[in-house]
Amino acid sequence: MKVLVTREIPEAGLKKLRDRYDVEVNTKPRNLRKEEIIERGKDKDAMLCLLTDTIDEEVISELDQIKVISNYAVGYDNIDVEAATERGIPVTNTPGVLTDATAEIAWSLIFSTARRIAEGDKFVREDGFEGWDPTLMLGREVTGKTLGIIGMGNIGTAVARKSVGFDMDILYYNRSRKEKVEEELGAKKVELDRLLEESDIVSLHVPLTEETEGMISWSELERMKETAYLINTARGEVVNEEALIEALHSKRIAGAGVDVYADEPYGANPDYYDLDNVVLTPHLGSATHRARNGMADMAADNLISVLKGERPEHIVNPEVLR
Ligand code: NAP
Ligand code: GLV
Ligand code: GLV
Repeated sequence: MKVLVTREIPEAGLKKLRDRYDVEVNTKPRNLRKEEIIERGKDKDAMLCLLTDTIDEEVISELDQIKVISNYAVGYDNIDVEAATERGIPVTNTPGVLTDATAEIAWSLIFSTARRIAEGDKFVREDGFEGWDPTLMLGREVTGKTLGIIGMGNIGTAVARKSVGFDMDILYYNRSRKEKVEEELGAKKVELDRLLEESDIVSLHVPLTEETEGMISWSELERMKETAYLINTARGEVVNEEALIEALHSKRIAGAGVDVYADEPYGANPDYYDLDNVVLTPHLGSATHRARNGMADMAADNLISVLKGERPEHIVNPEVLR
């Protein structure tokens, strides 16, 4: 069987595939364009792809032989799952192994914004520091504040759990109720408006879907406290970036920590660059050795299971198996 891997992933996953199949890996240090994915995927039985690959209906319809699309990510908004399902193609993802890594990036952004870490680092490097100053770069303490989690799934729950040492009240917004987190952490399920109005830190952990696209726009930002911070490690399009940039410019909110951008895979929005009250990271949520090795292993296992005619551990469209 022939397998296409659209970018080099950690060896743990590649080895598993090479031991079993004829594997073609794109070794170029860039993403494949749509035409290239079609050209190289046409004669393949399986594909392991990245969140930066556009696997839309056009691509899927050209991959006549494909038996499984294994995404090297937990998010799968890059794939037209409906089109795959119509053709009976299983789509798999990598939940869990990157949960703590991503929750840590959310927390890094919480502290970096509230305690002005990135701004302070830049100030020192530019030789601005002339000794302790009573009014220099005052921020806000996180301890004892209210944390609002939008999307209380794996990552949202991990972010909430990590707040325990900081003595925070937790509000959450999610479609289904999460009784376990309520019992464990005293988290309270509320409507989105109330979460926005009462939280000191709002952290986004929903997947990008038709429902969540633009979920945080000007009218939502307007509800937030002037002293509050917005953290986005979900997907860029969950937030209306223009509205956020305006809210940061006008100090409508205190700051933001951003790991994901609407213009990915092309890059970030340059309008952020002149703002002191935003901390920007280059989509680093799962960027740890442990998480990426685990994702490679899991993405390979998912793909192998389907080719062996077995049920993969993590499938996003299980209805194709019935
Ligand atoms: P998950 O366990 O599926 O959690 C998603 C949560 O969002 C669920 O609790 C879901 O619950 C809720 N949700 C979905 N649609 C909603 C809606 N319309 N309104 C309110 N809540 C909604 O996924 P996860 O592993 O935590 O990952 C979440 C997302 O993080 C991924 O999809 C990905 O986009 C992003 N991510 C980013 C990075 C990074 O590098 N920055 C890394 C990993 C993941 P209900 O369906 O019950 O509402
Ligand atoms: C990363 O953003 C993922 O969805 O795994
Ligand atoms: C600060 O460094 C302090 O000692 O209060």
